[in-house]
Amino acid sequence: MRGFFITLEGPDGAGKGTQGRRLVEHLRRAAVDVLNPREPGGTSIGERIRRVLLDDTHREMAPETEMLLFAASRAQFVREVVRPALARGTTVLSERYVDASLAYQGFGRGLDVALVRTVNDVATGGLLPDLTLLLDIDPPVGLERVQAAGRAGAAGGDRLEQETLAFHQRVRAGFLQLARESPKRFVVIDAQGDVERVHREVVRAVDGLLAGRKVTS
Ligand code: TYD
Repeated sequence: MRGFFITLEGPDGAGKGTQGRRLVEHLRRAAVDVLNPREPGGTSIGERIRRVLLDDTHREMAPETEMLLFAASRAQFVREVVRPALARGTTVLSERYVDASLAYQGFGRGLDVALVRTVNDVATGGLLPDLTLLLDIDPPVGLERVQAAGRAGAAGGDRLEQETLAFHQRVRAGFLQLARESPKRFVVIDAQGDVERVHREVVRAVDGLLAGRKVTS
């Protein structure tokens, strides 16, 4: 039986990393075989592309370059990691996927969303997630969290995180529009509350997907 493909999306600082880790723990406790690679990256080629993409000295990067590099990383990720895992029955939880490019490079950068979709169709061979968890957060709150984490740990923010507030507002609105367009695939979760409540909502959505599959297969 093919594994499930689940993605976590949302503006910067929504808590995808924390919620992803918590969800993986939950699934492993429930004896679900789950893989949690990080995308972009997740492959050696992808990690290199990611470094080029996020380097904050690359201020001259054209939006088209950005879109194609994310798509190139994704093409490798789908072929090397996602499809083989799904084929052997492993559930894949990816933090970010095609919707991130639609939101950031399309709605955020202003590239034609239909074009970004077409390029990503080529990259993924049309593979879409079974479930997309959209952790929704007001960008000022999310960016404040990113900055606080930066102060506590490493340096403060990659090239995309350093974008203007207006950019991040467009990204958020884009994600919400994508969710409205595909209500069967998306579950929108208010990520502003405490970690436990958000985790419970994430678990409810994922358990629903897994239970539904058991009934139909
Ligand atoms: P990511 O690696 O998910 O890190 P974070 O946990 O900080 O969100 O993404 C890094 C940045 O790249 C983030 O600002 C979102 C952006 N991004 C895009 O613009 N397009 C994409 O297709 C992806 C995957 C990420």
